[in-house]
Amino acid sequence: GASPLQLSINGQVKNLTLEPRVTLLDALREYMDLTGTKKGCDHGQCGACTVHVDGQRINSCLTLAVMAKGKEITTIEGLAKGDALHPMQEAFLKHDGFQCGYCTPGQIMSGVACVKEGHATTDDQAREWMSGNLCRCGAYPNILAAVREVAG
Ligand code: FES
Repeated sequence: GASPLQLSINGQVKNLTLEPRVTLLDALREYMDLTGTKKGCDHGQCGACTVHVDGQRINSCLTLAVMAKGKEITTIEGLAKGDALHPMQEAFLKHDGFQCGYCTPGQIMSGVACVKEGHATTDDQAREWMSGNLCRCGAYPNILAAVREVAG
């Protein structure tokens, strides 16, 4: 049955009542109205659902919400600081790192982790790290340019 669960998301504590089988992705989208995180495949194959848990990127469709208990979850909604976009968001705008935009939140969350963890020092390395994030529009060169610019 459903049980109480407290989650920390984008610096805010949320009190939920959830069935234990609810994924973090569904908890975000359906119970917290955080719809910036997208559901593409729901099977760990597209990266549209990428969020950070304690700073590590994960596919939220493969993670149960209860597994994120006691951890800090960051979604695309938590990246900007007030009116100031995160540098990765700015870089995606500058380099046109999207067309339809559906994969963009996941791409950006992966890109942030890529740079932070030092996987963006070469094009090949960044491409490899970002390979779990699919873009059906094929905006890959622009996405790569954005990630590499932030890596500096
Ligand atoms: Fe999670 Fe596709 S929706 S990887």
